[in-house]
Parts: sequence; structure tokens; C-alpha cells
Amino acid sequence: MTKDQLQHIQLTETFVKKTLENSEGGHDWFHIKRVYNNALLISKKEDVDLFIVSLGALLHDIADSKFHNDDDTIGPQKAREFLFGINVDSVAIEHVVKIIENVSFKGGNISQNFSSIELDIVQDADRLDALGAIGIARTFNYGGFKNHKLYDPSIQPDLNMTKEAYKASSAPTINHFYEKLLLLKDRMNTKTGKQIALNRHNYMEEFLKQFYTEWNGEK
Ligand code: ADP
Ligand code: NI
Repeated sequence: MTKDQLQHIQLTETFVKKTLENSEGGHDWFHIKRVYNNALLISKKEDVDLFIVSLGALLHDIADSKFHNDDDTIGPQKAREFLFGINVDSVAIEHVVKIIENVSFKGGNISQNFSSIELDIVQDADRLDALGAIGIARTFNYGGFKNHKLYDPSIQPDLNMTKEAYKASSAPTINHFYEKLLLLKDRMNTKTGKQIALNRHNYMEEFLKQFYTEWNGEK
């Protein structure tokens, strides 16, 4: 990477930290930092543009539509303005914006209109942070933030939600495991991503088993 690029990454980190100062615990600077680290780890095994991966990871949740009235144009726009303001070249800016536009899960019934290895990596990195112990913690934090129930056996998971229904769902938090988290291991893009996802997936399966055992007043 060039000296300019390293400086651009540094400025981006500072901008993201500041912007996410008051965000929900599962979508704060530490989430970004973990995703960034995951992305660098996956990149070691791939031939990629590390500058694009870094900016994509750092900016991927700069204005998550969940926290911005479901408007999914604010994040890409904010990233574009910021990168333009620090003089990142326009080809790199457009690639980073495409990553931000396409990284999200949105219920899993949406098809992507762009593909690149850099997007694949940022997407895997973000998905890994939705899995395992951290994934469980983030999910219950989000459910608490939305005042959802932990679990209600009378409300079944819905695997056929539209993007709008997925985002608006007020279902119990346990349902989110079936509607998203347990589906992720089969949707990973990279080999490294798949391997790590499988470990974290198995950990969540164990958690769910124990959860139902305790729910039923056993052991
Ligand atoms: P993405 O970041 O890929 O757009 P989502 O917005 O679906 O994905 O979710 C990001 C994280 O936010 C999830 O991994 C989960 O921890 C939390 N989350 C999102 N929706 C829910 C929900 N309905 N219930 C509990 N947690 C949720
Ligand atoms: Ni994210």
C-alpha cells in the first residue's frame, strides 16, 4: 500500500470511531474493528486490493438503515462524501460504495447486483461477527434494544420474509437464529470464512440446545 493509502485508512478509522460514538452495542466501533480484523485475516489467503477491503470494512455500517428510518441510501452517500473529502480516487470510492450497498443480509431473499472478491471478503467478515459467542451477544443486545421477547414458543420463525418484513420484524430474539444466523454458514464466500463460520455455528447450536433445556426446567 502507498503512504497516501495508509493515511486514508487512518483518517477513515478516526471518522468511523467518531460517527459511531453513540451507537447500539452490536453496531459500534468495536463491531467495525472486529470486522476489519476478520477481513484482514481472510485477505491473507486471497489475492485482493487491501486498500479497498480496508475502507469497505471500516465504512460498511457507517449509517446502517436499521438505525436510519430504513433508508439504505444514507450509508453509501455518507461514505462517498467522506472519501471524496479526503481525496481518495474516484474508482476506489465507487468500489467501496458498491461494497456498502451490497454487504447487508436483508433477510437473504435479495439478489446482489455487484460482485468482487473485496465485497466477498467484507461480507464474510461481517457475517463472522454475527456468529459464535459474539454473534449471540450482539443478537440479544439488539433484541433488548428493540424490546423484543427472548423467546415465545407460540411464535414460529419465518423463513420467507421480504426485506421490509425482515427489518420490521418484532419477533422474539431466538427466532433470529433460524431466520438468519444459522443460515450463514452455507452462504460464506471464502474458504477461510467457511472454516471459521462452521466453528461458530456449532457453538450456537450448543447454546440453543442448552437454552431449551433450561427453558423446559431441566438440568
Ligand atoms: P447485516 O449487518 O448483514 O445487514 P442484519 O442487519 O440482519 O445484517 O443484522 C446485523 C446484526 O444485528 C445481526 O447479526 C444481529 O446480531 C442483529 N440483528 C438484526 N436483526 C435482528 C433481530 N431481528 N433480532 C435480533 N438481532 C438482530
Ligand atoms: Ni456490520
